Amino acid sequence: MDLFEYQARDVFESYGVPVLAGIIADSPEEVRAAADKLGGTVVVKAQVKVGGRGKAGGVKVAHNPQDAEEASKAIFGLDIKGHVVHRVMVAAGARIAQEFYFSVLLDRANRSFLSLASYEGGVEIEILAVERPEALAKVEVDPIAGIDLAKATEIATAASFPAELVPKIAPVIVKLYEVFVGEDATLVEVNPLVLTEEGDIVALDGKVTLDENAEFRHEGHSALVDTASEDPLEAKAKKANLNYVKLDGEVGIIGNGAGLVMSTLDVVSYAGEKHGHVKPANFLDIGGGASAEVMAAGLDVILGDEQVKSVFVNVFGGITSCDAVANGIVGALAVLGDAATKPLVVRLDGNNVVEGRQILADAGHPLVTVVDTMDEAADKAAELAYAAR
Ligand SMILES: Nc1ncnc2c1ncn2[C@@H]1O[C@H](COP(=O)(O)OP(=O)(O)O)[C@@H](O)[C@H]1O
Ligand SMILES: [Mg+2]
Repeated sequence: MDLFEYQARDVFESYGVPVLAGIIADSPEEVRAAADKLGGTVVVKAQVKVGGRGKAGGVKVAHNPQDAEEASKAIFGLDIKGHVVHRVMVAAGARIAQEFYFSVLLDRANRSFLSLASYEGGVEIEILAVERPEALAKVEVDPIAGIDLAKATEIATAASFPAELVPKIAPVIVKLYEVFVGEDATLVEVNPLVLTEEGDIVALDGKVTLDENAEFRHEGHSALVDTASEDPLEAKAKKANLNYVKLDGEVGIIGNGAGLVMSTLDVVSYAGEKHGHVKPANFLDIGGGASAEVMAAGLDVILGDEQVKSVFVNVFGGITSCDAVANGIVGALAVLGDAATKPLVVRLDGNNVVEGRQILADAGHPLVTVVDTMDEAADKAAELAYAAR
């Protein structure tokens, strides 16, 4: 999960990373009030989860509350790389002497942490990495040893930060690393990290990516979720602990095991070629124990998707055998009652398949069609979705 800049600012502050005052505002009037409260020169900054806001006109300097209000009118509603601005942060204005770059991130390829730093901050780091790679220092960080003052000094020196500033920057790097580890982040990036005219080092813009796998260790992280822009079906699935990803087709998919579900998406896409190019509506892996409750929760999410015209349940019975899954489906349909409105194509195979198919046949639910092979079932589900368009 990526944080907004203002959230990153708050996290930085709580770890003692030097930041400037910032107040969020959702309207030009609130911007004016915030600028009034901060006093002096302020910077109005679009809060969208994408970089390059400055270049896109999403960061504007204002010298008084009136100007700040006016400037914000040009920022609210601005579309920055597909992200529309609904909220801004009014930040105290810094008198910048120099801009630097610092980040620490999870380096999956090397199973380690990596720090990137440069004396050329403010510019987009992807561009710097390509155009002037020699200006970007890459220092591996041993996750066990971490970044202490000595390591931070090594990074700052490798980045060619001015020698007299290294003793000032290194402690900030140590604190940023504390954010990275303390919050279970996979990325902490500061661009720019600035030297002010007053001689202070300040994190002027922050990007933090939190590892969602560690959410259970951080009570506060759920409050950082941007619920307004979350897909409502994905939010519902998340609540039910389902591995669900919304796609934009018409055939709802339920399967057990990520690999099986991925191949189900492929066969449905392929079958859809013959049936008006219908496509999978989602990824949903209900995992090993396909109980009636889990099946009902999964069906409930998928049937709540208005785009869905048919549902393909593709289960390979393993530890949870086919009869248990069949009972799960029958139970789920009973739980859902009238809420189950779309045709279901079920393909069962594996452990206790004969018993499983028998259970579905005995139930004789009018919405359920049982098909023996995966390809034929995909074809049937695509055909039904196309017919219901
Ligand atoms: N509080 C501030 N005071 C003065 N200048 C700022 C402030 N915040 C940002 N800037 C300037 O605007 C530039 C872009 O802002 P930044 O927050 O880095 O947004 P982005 O990286 O999305 O373009 C910075 O490099 C800096 O020069
Ligand atoms: Mg920036």
